[in-house]
Amino acid sequence: MIALRRLILCAALGLGLAPAAAAQPTGADIYKQRCAMCHTSKAGAKPGIGPNLAGVYGRTAASTTYNYSAAMKKKAAVKWDKASLDAFLTYPGKFIPGTKMVAQLPDKTMREKLIAYLVTLK
Ligand code: HEC
Repeated sequence: MIALRRLILCAALGLGLAPAAAAQPTGADIYKQRCAMCHTSKAGAKPGIGPNLAGVYGRTAASTTYNYSAAMKKKAAVKWDKASLDAFLTYPGKFIPGTKMVAQLPDKTMREKLIAYLVTLK
């Protein structure tokens, strides 16, 4: 599905016909494409490969029912706010050396949109 969308997007870009919406994904789009394969955000749902992200904004790290890495548990004093999420999502292994999460999002604009979306996950 994602591969297909990429293909369509590449084809559209190649023809110079990329619609603005495809070129500028929303925070929800970024979440769907880059996070949802490992994380659920449905309140009360069992975690997937990664912990459930419902209510992640404002909670402390490693505080849900999930088999966190030792590295993550050691960071339990971290509160997930805009600054900590920004640092973590840029390059998780730099913010929390030894974390199991390897997905990274170096693009600042994408991170800003994504974090604004994470705030809405209740
Ligand atoms: C390939 C799977 C995978 C992807 C993709 C992924 N994550 Fe994770 N994520 C994990 C795992 C595994 C952990 C647990 C890390 C640990 O215990 O060290 C985690 C942990 C987290 C945490 C800490 C949660 C807590 O309860 O303290 C946040 C926040 C997070 N991920 C956000 C995201 C966001 C936002 C994205 C999309 C950009 C994303 N993740 C993409 C696997 C993934």
